[in-house]
Amino acid sequence: MNNEEMIARISKIVENACKSDSNIFGYGIWSHHIVYVVKYAIELAKKLGADIEVVEIAALLHDYAGIKDQLLEAEHHIHGAFEADRILTEFGYPSDKIQKVKDCILSHRGSVLSERLTSEAECIASADAMAHVSQVPSLLHLAYVSHGMSIDEGRLWVLNKIERSMKKMCPEARNMINDHYLKVKAVLE
Ligand SMILES: [Fe+2]
Ligand SMILES: [Fe+2]
Repeated sequence: MNNEEMIARISKIVENACKSDSNIFGYGIWSHHIVYVVKYAIELAKKLGADIEVVEIAALLHDYAGIKDQLLEAEHHIHGAFEADRILTEFGYPSDKIQKVKDCILSHRGSVLSERLTSEAECIASADAMAHVSQVPSLLHLAYVSHGMSIDEGRLWVLNKIERSMKKMCPEARNMINDHYLKVKAVLE
């Protein structure tokens, strides 16, 4: 199996988990989150000179643990790194590249980007934040449907979430999404 086939297989594993009844987020986490994290992570990897293949795999797997099992959601970055190790080892992926994927997943929730992160990890944390800003309807769904918030509670929760997301991004990512962010902010304020 070549790497392109392996990525297609990983993509299917994650999409199938998103379709499962046990996935508490619904299929939207695939169609309105992961697909966009992959897209932005690859665009960023090209800009930052990061390993595109590592970044694509990490983007596909970054939220996998919490999708697969809701009990793993609270620590999904840690369980996700473990799942990535298991899946990629089964595919015979090189261990140095597996480590890079795991680093990306472990640090994707960090609220502050530090210089210690690899450029691949920076791509994933930033792309995750970009997907939140670009997919506001999915955040609104989370606020009003999943969390049952009132109109203003939900509005402020989403506004706060996208503002934190903007802070989490590297400057390149912020530039890419800033116009969209300003429009969303104008609607929510
Ligand atoms: Fe996550
Ligand atoms: Fe995510």
